[in-house]
Amino acid sequence: MLSNALPEWMALERHAQAIRSTPIPALFTTDPDRFRRFSLTLPGMVLDYSRQHASDETMVLLLNLARAVQVESWRDRMFYGDLINASENRAVLHTALRRPQGDRVMTGGADVMPDIHDTLARMRRFAEAVQGGQWAGHGGKRIRTVVTIGIGGSDLGPRFVTKALSDFYNPGLSVRFVSNVDGAALRSALQGCDPATTLFLVASKTFTTAETMANARSARTWLVDALGTEDAVQRHFVALSTNMAAARDFGIAPDNVFPFSDWVGGRFSVWSAIGLSIALATSFDHFRSFLDGAYAMDRHFQTAPLPENAPVLMALLGFWNRTMMGYPALAVLPYDHRLRLFSAWLQQGDMESNGKSVSRRNEPVPYETAPVIFGTAGTDCQHSFMQMIHQGTTIVPCDFIAALEHNHPWAEQHAMLLSNMVAQADALMQGRSLAESGNDPQRAFPGNRPSSLILLDRVDPFHLGQVMALYEHKIFVQGLLWNINSFDQFGVELGKIMANQALAALHQPGASRKDSLLGVIADRLKP
Ligand code: F6P
Repeated sequence: MLSNALPEWMALERHAQAIRSTPIPALFTTDPDRFRRFSLTLPGMVLDYSRQHASDETMVLLLNLARAVQVESWRDRMFYGDLINASENRAVLHTALRRPQGDRVMTGGADVMPDIHDTLARMRRFAEAVQGGQWAGHGGKRIRTVVTIGIGGSDLGPRFVTKALSDFYNPGLSVRFVSNVDGAALRSALQGCDPATTLFLVASKTFTTAETMANARSARTWLVDALGTEDAVQRHFVALSTNMAAARDFGIAPDNVFPFSDWVGGRFSVWSAIGLSIALATSFDHFRSFLDGAYAMDRHFQTAPLPENAPVLMALLGFWNRTMMGYPALAVLPYDHRLRLFSAWLQQGDMESNGKSVSRRNEPVPYETAPVIFGTAGTDCQHSFMQMIHQGTTIVPCDFIAALEHNHPWAEQHAMLLSNMVAQADALMQGRSLAESGNDPQRAFPGNRPSSLILLDRVDPFHLGQVMALYEHKIFVQGLLWNINSFDQFGVELGKIMANQALAALHQPGASRKDSLLGVIADRLKP
């Protein structure tokens, strides 16, 4: 049954009409205790959803829907390794990657935990050997630069986390990332690199992704040309992949492949061997702490009652905004420079997971699913797109994320940062009436624009893992509410097929790049 046929869904639709006549500030007027009741404190983090356009009744009705779509039983099935990714007949077990040693997680008749911890132990040994200089380049020189080649989930998670953890860097090693097939990206990643001291991590679940393989081949040629022998590949390339055979065919010895399993979705793979760049950039212990933070959120998601369950509440409110209130986007605004790539990471997690229009049972869904996710760090955002969010014709809910501790000597600037964030949330909600704006409509603000605040104790590996897992589980619960499979991504396939066709047509002997490109464009537009 489609979710919108449920009586709990219909009750929400009726309620969404009714609540429009009560703007958000009025919800505070009638309930002085609203902030306390519409916020949640977990160890290390506070979630304040009091500025959402939701009343007590809204929350009751949303929680009724969560129960009707059986969030708890689906959650348990995910954690226990059931094949909930039905279109690909796979389990969804990225949560197993963060579990402590000694746990058991069975799928397909086997416990997945021994392999996970074997790989973690190998990652630790490798990271420590590179950092300690025992793993040297082909000519015996110490590795100074790590270039990670990967795209999508094989790039966005490690890139975001590595940038966010600059306070934890290992000083002897710099880690760079290249994802785009545009050779300019590889050129810039290789700028200033000494081939004798550069290590490449080829990060690809499938080891077939066109962009990654093109960059990896070019990097290998760059290295072999400089060092004069194919043998150098053994000391300068490792693979992070499920596809041992393809890595071997590329010339990477099995000992230099860090494996994971196909029940790790690409966009959830930062917790797997794909996270090796994080361990190299910081330390393996920091990577373990990152996994521990996510595990703490997993335990919360698994055990907290639904009304106090942070991912569930965030999912319900996101669903409410998108599907019931009709708001098409979500702005994710970290008021912390270290978290500036948060929305780039989240875009794939959310939009690749829930950007679907067919239900798990292949019916077209007659309601809105994933919002457009975008964002950048505050206060930069205030000088770019916030104008539209304050006064535009489209309501864009916002998630503001901040850390209570700063990592620099300028405490006053941290105070300015936080005050700006709170001011944005208040201005969005309260607005400014025509009278208060000197009767100048240009200067009036409609207000009644919803937002949530997420306050982390600090930006460190643990809290980063915690907040990323929070959003992962939010995405999962939203998929349940929409009755879609959040774990496949067939929507990226058609473009890949067409790109291959266009590539073949671009190779026209004798034609200039311009003529062949214009020819390809014109040909493909012919009926
Ligand atoms: O964008 C499609 C996708 O399959 C993502 O899900 C994945 O993260 C990315 O491509 C990269 O895939 P791979 O890790 O196999 O190279």
